[in-house]
Amino acid sequence: MEKLEQYQFSKRFDGVPLIGSAFAGEHPGLIPLAFGFPYPNSFSIDGLAEAAVKALKSEGTEALQYSGGPGQKKILEWIRERSKLRSIQVDTDQIMVTSGSNQGIDLVARTLTDPGDSVWVEAPVYFGALRAFYLAQNELTAFPVDEAGLRVDLIEEALIEASEGKRPMPKFIYVLPNYHNPAGISLSVERRKKLAELAYTYNFYIIEDDAYVELNFDGEFLPSIYSFGPERVIYMSTFSKIVAPGIRMAWIISDPEVLNRIKIVKTEGLTSVLMQEVVSCFLEKVDFAEHLKPLVAGYRMRRDAMVQAINDFFGDEVSFEKPEGGFFLWLTFPEKIDTTRLLHDAVEAGVSFVDGKSFYLDGKPTNNLRLAFSFCDEAQIREAIQTLAKVYQKQKRSVC
Ligand SMILES: Cc1ncc(COP(=O)(O)O)c(C=O)c1O
Repeated sequence: MEKLEQYQFSKRFDGVPLIGSAFAGEHPGLIPLAFGFPYPNSFSIDGLAEAAVKALKSEGTEALQYSGGPGQKKILEWIRERSKLRSIQVDTDQIMVTSGSNQGIDLVARTLTDPGDSVWVEAPVYFGALRAFYLAQNELTAFPVDEAGLRVDLIEEALIEASEGKRPMPKFIYVLPNYHNPAGISLSVERRKKLAELAYTYNFYIIEDDAYVELNFDGEFLPSIYSFGPERVIYMSTFSKIVAPGIRMAWIISDPEVLNRIKIVKTEGLTSVLMQEVVSCFLEKVDFAEHLKPLVAGYRMRRDAMVQAINDFFGDEVSFEKPEGGFFLWLTFPEKIDTTRLLHDAVEAGVSFVDGKSFYLDGKPTNNLRLAFSFCDEAQIREAIQTLAKVYQKQKRSVC
């Protein structure tokens, strides 16, 4: 077959990097602190196997058809009930199941924006979302986060400028309110409220990506941004972190009018109806609170192991906010340290992580990096952090 020339690809690809799970197979043999993956023992393999048999045996004829079986309705009901814990009161016609939240982000971007439309994101920002926005050819502007999440005060200043015609108004702002990927922080309740108010005043949407909400280590849940602005917020969450990412199942909650348009953009049709049947049987069988307990405990244990190892091997040479949930810890080094260079040396020494520049729009080297504590066991985490500290000491000697 003839090789495709560069000019035959869409211009949308220009400069869009491939990061994330599509890249995960690289460098086998490393201790992968780069992987934002659930740890292998977190999967309920027996429970899912039983559910798969039940789904096929009892609903097979419908579940294998394009239109699917009763599981779709049951999943919507489950999501509706569960959402009440996030202070979200909706009907099932406000919920749509997608093939992962990544698809949800992509669909929403393509539904709300045209090429060149302005979209505002956090800095740092989840690179999976960035990829969707780049491909939608959005004009991106990033606003910093601090220990209480997105700097909503800076958003307000920029909105005032936009209302005076000094910059474009955003079509939407993408926000990750709980246990941020990569920053590990959560948005304060005051800022959630304020952001929702601004969305009404200046007429933009908020995409609230709540992928990690269930993995909360201290038991305190904050109300969603959605609860402060249901007409202006498109909320999404996922089964990836609480059942398994391999099932590729997540959901969007929004106004039915928005969902009706998203359905047009979702050209694949329904999300795997067989898998919806399986997950529905699984959720029917388990006591979900009991199912979550060991998962949350497993992640908390890993978080603690990582924090302990950082304290032991780095002392006060690095800084970080201790994550109260989720998968990630965001480590900041002294300014002279370039984590892209550090990554190169760390890979040679047997450890991977994601360098800071992957989470910023300008792609310039930074002095922070993302560590995932979600996947490795405690011994691996300790060994990896020790190795990282050695690699860091070497770079420090060469730059200071
Ligand atoms: C913030 C955030 N949003 C969305 C996703 C994608 O989740 P899904 O597996 O549902 O596509 C991830 C996965 O890592 C994530 O970290």
